[in-house]
Amino acid sequence: MRLLLIAAIVSSQAFAEDYKPDAENGAFLHGDHCVDCHMVDNHEALYTRENRVVNERIRLNGQVSACVQVLNLGWFPDEEKDVSEFLNQEYYKF
Ligand code: HEC
Repeated sequence: MRLLLIAAIVSSQAFAEDYKPDAENGAFLHGDHCVDCHMVDNHEALYTRENRVVNERIRLNGQVSACVQVLNLGWFPDEEKDVSEFLNQEYYKF
């Protein structure tokens, strides 16, 4: 049992490192959970404004995580990565 648990942990870590973000899933998650506040008139405003918070790719992950945490969505890290990837492809383009 214990061995099985360790194996599960090890393999889930390996999986996390190999994970290739799925921007399409990210778009879906974003549309479902993230538009309420951001898409006031036009959702691009926040991500493309001049003094935007996120100015490098690594900080995009952090900001997505922060909003996910504030909202208490309980997403998996992979889901956060999907949304980061979507936002990057769509708006930030780092
Ligand atoms: C409760 C309202 C609210 C929701 C819902 C929300 N956010 Fe945010 N988010 C904010 C606010 C407010 C800011 C601006 C913070 C600032 O200007 O310092 C922000 C900023 C951001 C930024 C940075 C924009 C920039 O300046 O570059 C990203 C990225 C982001 N949110 C991602 C998300 C994601 C992904 C979700 C869905 C999981 C989400 N947010 C849901 C309130 C929200």
